[in-house]
Amino acid sequence: PLVVGKEVLDKARREGYAVPSFNTNNLEITQAILETAEEMRAPVFIQVSDGARKYAGLENLANLVRDMASRVSVPVVLHLDHGADYKMVLQALRAGFTSVMIDASHHPFEENVRETQRCVEAAHAVGVSVEAELGRLQGIEDNVQVSEAEAFLTDPEEAERFVELTGVDYLAIAIGTSHGAYKGKGRPYIDHRRLEEIARRVPLPLVLHGASGVPEWLKERLLATGAELKEATGIHDEDIRKAIPNGIAKINIDTDLRLAMTLGIREVVTQNPKEFDPRKIIGKGREYLKQVIREKFLLMGTAGRA
Ligand code: G3H
Ligand code: 13P
Ligand code: NA
Ligand code: ZN
Repeated sequence: PLVVGKEVLDKARREGYAVPSFNTNNLEITQAILETAEEMRAPVFIQVSDGARKYAGLENLANLVRDMASRVSVPVVLHLDHGADYKMVLQALRAGFTSVMIDASHHPFEENVRETQRCVEAAHAVGVSVEAELGRLQGIEDNVQVSEAEAFLTDPEEAERFVELTGVDYLAIAIGTSHGAYKGKGRPYIDHRRLEEIARRVPLPLVLHGASGVPEWLKERLLATGAELKEATGIHDEDIRKAIPNGIAKINIDTDLRLAMTLGIREVVTQNPKEFDPRKIIGKGREYLKQVIREKFLLMGTAGRA
């Protein structure tokens, strides 16, 4: 069934596992997420981004996810990803989301607090949980001094003040990850010591954005179809495993799903040029999606928790 975000994440932080939050844009992605969650007895977040809203429509996706979630036995949270402002949050509340993110992290601290406060007031009035973000997501590149990049990372003392002032239910933090398929050369830098300090001061579930791994098997197979992705890199599984006992309870994944869907599509169209049934083409993408989603539930310790 559809449930509220806070109950899923409080349990995850308390018991030391994480719940993946997968971006959906259509029917097939939603099916892959829910079928795999059901098979693995895993709670799951399904999130809708600004791009998803523009591509498929907020109401279309909300109605699809809510209806499908009502027919599975595991807990499902419908979450607004990177809500841009108060108005966007209200639209999501009206559409039946059970968790919303207000991302005012690009504003100065005081303004981020004010904008988050009013979203919390509206969402809590109707029993919906709220995620906010403090710090700026940005890959730490080899050519940038870590001290310089650290200016964007979440300050532990500020994080403590931020959650007290706003009353948010979970907090997204910047500890070195970044969105997309190019997270920096070699092993992307994750500031685990900073995470430990934030977790010591903030008892809430912490959220990790930009957490895709760009799995080697996916990349190899995509390259074999002629895809140009040579420089693509992601967060190592080891860093994900290390972050979870330090308070990370929600982990956002979009890029790895995009890669999986695109692999299926590319394999069918390049290996079978006579095929023109979109169900055969997209269907193969959906199979690879399920494989990636399965791996995430195992990596994060979510399997068997529902
Ligand atoms: O946070 C970013 C997500 O990957 C969604 O991106 O707005 O292009 O759908 P999008
Ligand atoms: P990735 O691009 O690493 O999958 O991150 C997705 C994300 O953080 C969506 O909010
Ligand atoms: Na989010
Ligand atoms: Zn994000």
